[in-house]
Amino acid sequence: MIGYWITTKEKTGDVVPTFRKNWKIDTEVCKAVAKISALGVYEAHINGKRISNYVLAPGWTAYQKRLQYQSYDITSMLREENEIEVVVGKGWMRSPMPGFIDNEQKDNRQKKPVGLIAEICIEFRDGSKKVISTDTSWDYSESPIRFSEIYDGEYYDATYHAKAWTPCVLLDWSKEILIPQEGEEILEKEEVAVKEIIITPKKEVVLDFGQVITGYVKFNVRAKKGDIVEYIHGEILDNEGNFYNDNYRNAKAEIKYVCREGYQNYKPHLTFFGFRYIKIINFPEKINKENFNATVVYSDIQQTGFIESGNELVNRLISNIFWGQKGNFLDVPTDCPQRDERLGWTGDAAVFVKAASYNYDVERFFGKWLRDLACEQYDNGGIPDVVPDYFLNGKSSSVWGDAAVICPWQIYITYGNIEILKTQFESMKGWISFITEMTTTQYLWTGGSHYGDWLAIDAPEGSRTGATRKDFIASAFYYSSTNIFVKAGKILGYDMKEYEDLASNIRKRFIEKYSTYTTQTEYVLAAYFKLCEEPQKVADELAGIIRTVGCVNQTGFVGTPFILHVLSRYGYQELAYTLLLREEYPSWLYSVKKGATTVWEHWDGIKEDGSLWDKKMNSFNHYAYGSIIDWMYEEALGIKPCEENPGFTKLFIAPKPDKRLKWMGGGINTSHGKVRVKWTFKGNEIRYNIITPVPAIISINGKETQVDSGSYIFWGKAY
Ligand code: BGC
Repeated sequence: MIGYWITTKEKTGDVVPTFRKNWKIDTEVCKAVAKISALGVYEAHINGKRISNYVLAPGWTAYQKRLQYQSYDITSMLREENEIEVVVGKGWMRSPMPGFIDNEQKDNRQKKPVGLIAEICIEFRDGSKKVISTDTSWDYSESPIRFSEIYDGEYYDATYHAKAWTPCVLLDWSKEILIPQEGEEILEKEEVAVKEIIITPKKEVVLDFGQVITGYVKFNVRAKKGDIVEYIHGEILDNEGNFYNDNYRNAKAEIKYVCREGYQNYKPHLTFFGFRYIKIINFPEKINKENFNATVVYSDIQQTGFIESGNELVNRLISNIFWGQKGNFLDVPTDCPQRDERLGWTGDAAVFVKAASYNYDVERFFGKWLRDLACEQYDNGGIPDVVPDYFLNGKSSSVWGDAAVICPWQIYITYGNIEILKTQFESMKGWISFITEMTTTQYLWTGGSHYGDWLAIDAPEGSRTGATRKDFIASAFYYSSTNIFVKAGKILGYDMKEYEDLASNIRKRFIEKYSTYTTQTEYVLAAYFKLCEEPQKVADELAGIIRTVGCVNQTGFVGTPFILHVLSRYGYQELAYTLLLREEYPSWLYSVKKGATTVWEHWDGIKEDGSLWDKKMNSFNHYAYGSIIDWMYEEALGIKPCEENPGFTKLFIAPKPDKRLKWMGGGINTSHGKVRVKWTFKGNEIRYNIITPVPAIISINGKETQVDSGSYIFWGKAY
């Protein structure tokens, strides 16, 4: 870009500045493109019209090294006299996180200057060109957005009119970091109407949108100048039916709007919220449902997966998982969209990436995030717990850091494009070397600080870390990641002997050290990664202990994604379904029965007696446990990509039905077409309708049939 970084002459504090430039055109325009980026998040208007539907541009990247700019075709927006106006809010770059980081870090974030860079290239019919780019001929003023920030919300004064315009000054900021838009655009994707206006026992006026979403509320109002509209966001009502958002911790999640005279509309410009309810603190007229509408905002990922079954609770769980993904795929895969975090927690992404890649086309989304991950990787190969790195604490943990290996591999398996392995290869290698260097025991990963089987039910009282030994988990993932790295290297044509030896030594040492298992997750990992002599025996024992505790799953973030896979793989399909279909606490359907519309962070976010898990950590939109859906695709429907033929170029389809569901149908829209499986119990038989877009091996009741692409019906015995 040829423009300069510009900023305001005086700091505008919390007030969002508007940058402005006017220019004239006196000949016919053939094409005009505007390129824009900012320090913070921006919204641009040309001649009073929004330049694009992109929300929260320029998106969120490892800003100190990579900052996206967007290119917009503005040909049809130009007139003889033109004006561009750009508001730049704090966004992810400059919002101080309300808790979590220390004051010095907060200060550093707040000290970052607001900045804008833009270049408008206009080509005329007569072959001439004009370039308008940011420099000191632009000016700025305060905008009606008096405050806007990611966690606390927005304060807009519609009575405010820019008074004084001041020339901008140049800002010394790198242009080297600018990259063209790489991820998916962030867009307004869906609208949700108010389901109900509730007057709570505390006499609060609460609007229920019926669904936990991520985005914001639009409202219209007829008001007198100076009237106030004010509301805050929440995900649930408490046990008594009152508004509750203590679980947002320090995120105020508040909208305040000062009305001008007459009829008007508003929607937030530079922020977003995770919510289902809003509590109205002020509204100048009688509230009708039609005054409000919620807009769902997420990255422009296309849905590829679909599953339905004969069980309504399972269907709601599936819907919750899709909503969980939409709510947390806002440019970066986040842990949650509501409290004072909303961060790219690597571990959450690592355990959900497979599910995510079947549900939606996330190739580009993860491609961009993984480049950020590689950028944020420490010199010693460690991976920050969150990407982009917000904590800047140099810390790395097992499973979380393994995202560096797990995510690119899954993206390669699902979409079959070798580029992701090429781009991430050095990063993967760095991570393996990091573990090899850091460990206190050769061929295992001992020492270090880890989250363990995060939030598992077998956690000792008061702890968030499950009972599974941390060294056990760290070593198991050290093995798994090294194995994946070997496969990736071989695909890229490298000699991987050194790492093959490493993997086999880890396995040997692991089996020597861990010959007995103390938790469900330990059994699960040993069997899943084949870190034992006899995985079948380990799975048999796992099934035994699950039954002993009453067919209950006690796993956390680490064991949960694999537990049903292990059961299905080793002949315990029925038990896997029993866990899926369990409705009492703890289970997936427990939250559904408690009214969940997204996946909860805790198995017991709302306890059986209606009380809530500690407000310090209780999100109702955390996708990690939604990883169960990859088991539904791969085992229940039986659609599995093969490692030898990634990207679904060849399929192995082996459905595993269960009578309790009556039927299940679904599939994945792959780049070769739609693969679809439906099984239905019909008396003593099961009918299988299978459509495959590519040659496949179909396995029914253990009998394998090789087929070309096409549509098939099979019958099998019910069992
Ligand atoms: C986040 C998690 C994350 C975890 C790390 C939490 O605060 O919300 O999802 O993975 O910290 O243990």
